[in-house]
This record gives sequence, C-alpha cells and structure tokens, in this order.
Amino acid sequence: MLASCLIWGFAALSAVHAGSVAPLSLNRKVATAWFAGWHADAGFPVSSISWSKYTEVTYSFAITTPDVNSVSLEGSNPAVLPQFVAAAHQHGVKAKVSVGGWTGSLYWSTAVGSAANRTAFVKTLTNFAAKYKLDGLDFDWEYPGRQGIGCNTINPSDSANFLAFLQELRRDPRGSKLILTAAVSITPFTGPDGNPLADVSAFSKVLDYIAIMNYDIWGPWSPTVGPNAPLTDACAAPANQAGSATSAIAAWTAARMPVNQLVLGVPAYGHSFRVRRASAFAPGSRSALAAYPPFDKSSPPTGDAWDDPAGADECGNPTSPGGNFNFWGVIQAGLLNRDGSPKAGVPFRFDQCSQTAYVYNSTSEVMISFDNAQAFAAKGSLIRSRGLRGFAMWEAGGDSRDILLDSIRHAAGF
Ligand SMILES: *[C@@H]1O[C@H](CO)[C@@H](O)[C@H](O)[C@H]1NC(C)=O
Ligand SMILES: *[C@@H]1O[C@H](CO)[C@@H](O)[C@H](O)[C@H]1NC(C)=O
Repeated sequence: MLASCLIWGFAALSAVHAGSVAPLSLNRKVATAWFAGWHADAGFPVSSISWSKYTEVTYSFAITTPDVNSVSLEGSNPAVLPQFVAAAHQHGVKAKVSVGGWTGSLYWSTAVGSAANRTAFVKTLTNFAAKYKLDGLDFDWEYPGRQGIGCNTINPSDSANFLAFLQELRRDPRGSKLILTAAVSITPFTGPDGNPLADVSAFSKVLDYIAIMNYDIWGPWSPTVGPNAPLTDACAAPANQAGSATSAIAAWTAARMPVNQLVLGVPAYGHSFRVRRASAFAPGSRSALAAYPPFDKSSPPTGDAWDDPAGADECGNPTSPGGNFNFWGVIQAGLLNRDGSPKAGVPFRFDQCSQTAYVYNSTSEVMISFDNAQAFAAKGSLIRSRGLRGFAMWEAGGDSRDILLDSIRHAAGF
C-alpha cells in the first residue's frame, strides 16, 4: 500500500512536471564539484577525480564569445572534455559543463539580449550538450545585471532575459532532458533597478538548483583580512558582516527559492594577505592571531603553484598575483600537517563566528584565510540541518587526499 502510494505519487509528480516542463532531478541529493579543465595537465587529471564521492561533476568552463552561435573551451583543455564525460559515465556520475565563469561571462548579456539571440543560444548550447554527451549545463554568469570582471556586456534586463532564455531552453526537447543549474552570488539575481529581485520563484521552475558561491566574501580587495567563506556573519561586528552561507540562504529563500533547490558552494582554497608581524597577533600575544587585522596592500603575496601570476586580465587591466592557496597548497607551504591539522609552531586560529581557519607564516608575514576539515564539517551540518540539496566544491583539484570532501560528505549525511 505504502509502496504503491509512493509509486503513484511519484508518477503523478513526474506527469505534472513533464507537463509544466520543470526540473527532472527533483530532490536528488547533490554532491558535486567543478573540475577546472586547465588543471587537467597541471597535476589534476581526470583520473584523479574521486568519482564515487560525487553525484555530478561539472567541467569548467565553456566561455561566452562575441558570437551567439558559439561557446569556447579555449583555455580549458578542450581535448580532455570527452575523456571527462566518458569517465563520469563509467562511474555512474552525471557530467555537466559550466558556461561562463569570472573570466568567461563577457558576452552572456548579449547572448540572451534579444528573442532571436536567445533562440540561437538555446541551439548553440543544446548542440554543444549533444556533441559532448552531457547530462546537464551549469550557468555561471558573473553576474546578470551587475558588472563582474569589469568589461562584461551588461543590460538592466539581464535577469529577465536570463529567465526567458532558461524557459526557452526548458521548452526545447533536448533542453528539457538536461540538468540545468546556476552558480549564483550570495544575494538573488539583480533586477532592473540594481537591487536583488524580491521574487525569483520563476527561476526555480526551470532550474534544477542553484549553487550559492559562498566564497570570495573577503579577499585582497577587502579593507582587512576576513573569512573567505563565512558560515555565518550575524555574530561578527557590524562592520564585518559581509554576507555568509546563512545570510545567503535567508536572502534566497526570502526571494522564494525553495530551500531544497539550494546547493551550498564551498571553497577548497583560501586567500592570502601580507600581514605585518606588528598587527598579526592579538594584543599582548605572540601566538594568538588577531581577528580582522589590517594588511599591506602594497605587497600582495603569491599563492601556490596554481596561483594566477601578475599580468593583465581579460579586460586588459593590470592585475596583482591572485594570492590564492588551494587546500593542498596550504599543506605544501608547510603551514599545516599532511592530514590538514594545525602544525606545531605555526600560528593557527579557528574563528568560531565564521567557522573558518587562518594560518600565519611569521617569516614571510603571510596570513591565509581558508576552510579546513572543521570548516567543511560545519558547512555539511548546516546543509543537513537546513535541508539544503547538497554541496558544490570549487574546485575538485583543490582538496588534498579528500580531507575536505570526506568531511563535508560525512557531516551533510552522504
Ligand atoms: C545578439 O548577438 C550578437 C552576437 O552574435 C550581438 O552582436 C548582438 O549585440 C546581440 N543582440 C543583443 C540585443 O544583445
Ligand atoms: C615561511 O616562509 C618562509 C619564507 O618564504 C619559508 O622559508 C618557510 O618555509 C615558511 N614557513 C613555514 C612554516 O612554512
């Protein structure tokens, strides 16, 4: 009786959703990560992916181009994508490609900027998905209605155009079968007045879920050192409340995105800052690290071997070194033990409010704000207690021996 009710219920649900052309992967818990194609030949090949620990993995990035009839895998090892999809399928894992990214969103706005372009872009992407045998597409537009890297095309109607594009993609016979997701900021999509939209429920009808990029909340652009990925910020001083996982969940659900369509984006990397010894420690201490210390902006540190060197960005503007340390990079720099635990003699702080970690090299005067296993466990617990859909880690190759991945999976209940 119970079983037949469930089957009936499921069939009825499927029928309703087939009729209204809605998400296919309803309520399936998601354990996912982005795979950076450009690291496939830099130490993290497809064969290194811990497939059994994921339900989906997303190849990054297909970038937007000035031509709505094409997206490009340039810079992301195009030849690796077919191997990636084949390996995913061998392991029973869904394979997606992410479209856009911080450096690949220059032409998102024009690609969906008119009815004709939306139709063309639907065709471009469904052809792309068919060519590579993808199970889904992730849309990482940074950001609709809001400037990202500095030279993106942009239009006050971006969010409305994005929605119209997604609706058309869902109506497409091939698009209707794809998992469709979006990587989003900690506040809802920006509306025509520049403020977050008050109601994004229409997006929930066409996207399977959104992955909230709750990272880069504090970084080298911030006034002081602060948490890359705060779990919460309500407990921080008002000046230090820059957003967090909990504020993002509150903002998106208030805008009517169902909580079971929220996936928490989590970072397997941190940001570094040059903090002079005189300001690195709590008053009167030589070992306890200070909270939110000032840093020397004139001397940005270089991160690990994957860090972006100083140069010019996609807009042609000069850039400093990124200063990013992957989790493996913090270990490799000798600032944590091999198992990711604090190392004797290396100043370490776990901030109870943000539930994130800091380490400090007193010789190089470099402080790193990052997520360790404890931070990932706290995020996993939040996913479980709030009933979120799951987690999405940037990036699969940032972890070390699955320390972070195992921690969040365990805490989230996978
Ligand atoms: C449509 O796409 C083309 C590029 O293929 C672009 O030049 C044009 O500006 C787009 N139209 C709109 C209204 O964004
Ligand atoms: C701190 O940085 C110095 C100088 O770059 C380096 O030689 C040293 O190995 C680092 N210390 C630790 C504990 O990693």
